[in-house]
This record gives sequence, structure tokens and C-alpha cells, in this order.
Amino acid sequence: MSAAPPARPAFSRAVIELRRVTKSYSRGEAEVHALRGVSLVVERGDLVAIMGASGSGKSTLMNIIGCLDVPTRGHFWLDGVDVRTLDEESLATVRNRRIGFVFQSFNLIPRTTALANVELPLAYAGVRGPERRDRALGALAAVGLADRTRHVPSEMSGGQQQRAAVARAIVTNPALVLADEPTGNLDSASSDEVMGIFSDINAQGRTVVLITHEDDVAAFAKRVVRLRDGRVVDDHRVTPVDGPPPRRGRDRSPASVAGGMPS
Ligand SMILES: Nc1ncnc2c1ncn2[C@@H]1O[C@H](COP(=O)(O)OP(=O)(O)OP(=O)(O)O)[C@@H](O)[C@H]1O
Ligand SMILES: [Mg+2]
Repeated sequence: MSAAPPARPAFSRAVIELRRVTKSYSRGEAEVHALRGVSLVVERGDLVAIMGASGSGKSTLMNIIGCLDVPTRGHFWLDGVDVRTLDEESLATVRNRRIGFVFQSFNLIPRTTALANVELPLAYAGVRGPERRDRALGALAAVGLADRTRHVPSEMSGGQQQRAAVARAIVTNPALVLADEPTGNLDSASSDEVMGIFSDINAQGRTVVLITHEDDVAAFAKRVVRLRDGRVVDDHRVTPVDGPPPRRGRDRSPASVAGGMPS
């Protein structure tokens, strides 16, 4: 990466700003160019779906936005902070406090109750005792799992496990929630349920960026960004950043239900 980052406007509302970001992996002789110059600005309050074929660079981009990986070249600001200037400890704090992650495979700790799973990020953040428990219970209630707090992952459906994972992602009250194919392992009803929760989270003012392969899932987003071969090839706004998300959890009109299933 070049030395001095270009100036960015001090009044920017951008929570994420990438400029000409590249990511290359060396594989023996060959180099894989996972990202070939991505520039992307995401404003506070947006709900963005990132789409694209397998291998187009979606997870690579998400890992950079989530401070789990660094660009080979280019610039990345998170909440106006040039991420390169942060040391490991500050990065860990950013990941814990400002970002909530949701993964395709839920990544809950097995043989551990939903409540304990959701308490974990708070434990890392140093929150203890009744406050930790109450906040975790609150997050579980917010995703409709008030009656499953003592269940371990193997006693929950896929949709319930993913909702517990969403509760874990939001329990620290992060401004930004990132999800890599959060509905990839779910049937369409559970997928709609989980997306409804992401819409609700967004309606509360949190910025949400998620990866999906499915149009039904992207239909919940305010903006759809498409990647091809490590480049942004389409960037389409559906509804205004400041407006409500196009679909909500309780939106169950037949036309909006995935697959048009009668209720
Ligand atoms: N750690 C790595 N080492 C080498 N190559 C990698 C690494 N991670 C990703 N790649 C390569 O970078 C490219 C982009 O991968 P990425 O995981 O970002 O794709 P994706 O769009 O998320 O695909 P999928 O939809 O299958 O999850 C692929 O060609 C992949 O093989
Ligand atoms: Mg991926």
C-alpha cells in the first residue's frame, strides 16, 4: 500500500470507505487476484447485499471490511479511521465493539446454551454479572428466542441457531453488522425470518452488509452491489439509506414471501 492516504471529507457519513482496494494471494508461482480495485462507500444506516458468482471476491471483501484481513493495496477507512493505523489490540477492540459478525455455518459453540453463546462477546468486552445476563437475554428476546435460552445448538433448528448467532452479533450493540451468506444453510421460511431480523436491526439504525447468492434475500436490501472477478460491476440502490428497509420481519404479504408459498 502507498504511504499517505488521500484526504477524505471530514463530514462524511460513510461508515465504510474503500478506495481502489486490491487483494492478491500468492499460490506457488501463480498469484490469485481476489480483488482488483474495489472502491465502495457505505453510509450509516444502509442495508447492502453483496452478490456475485462463487470466487468473485465477496468473502475477501467482507473479511477486509470486518478487519479480519488487510488489503494488498488501496485504502480502507472504518468510521473515518484508516484501519492501517490501528495495532492488533485496537483492531481486536474494533472487531469486538463496533462490528457484529454472522456466518453461514452459525459458528455457535456446541454443547453450550444459547444464553452462554450470546454472553460470550460481552465477556470479552468485560461485561459481567447480571448486566451480562440481562443484555444477552434481551438480544435473544429481540430475535424471538426468549423461550430457547437454555437450549444448546443441537436442540435448535437451523433458523433458530442462526437467530441465536444474530443475537450474539448484536449483543454488544455494534454500529455495523456483517454477514457472509447468513441464509446459505436455511430453508426459505427460516431464511425470510432471519432476513426479517436483519431488516429490524437496520430499522434501528444499524448498518448491515451481507453476502448472498439469492435474489429472495437481496430483496430485503436497500442497495445491491455485484462483484465479478474481483471488481464491482453493478451498484444499484433500491430504497433510500434513510428510509425503511424494503421488507420487514412482519411483512408476510403473499407476494413478498419467498417462493410465493400460500400461508
Ligand atoms: N486464503 C486464500 N489463499 C489463496 N486464495 C484465496 C484465499 N482466499 C480466497 N482465495 C481466492 O480468492 C478468490 C475469491 O475468493 P472469495 O472467497 O472471496 O470468493 P467468494 O465470492 O466469497 O466465493 P463463494 O461464493 O464461493 O463464497 C477465489 O479465487 C479464491 O480461490
Ligand atoms: Mg464466500
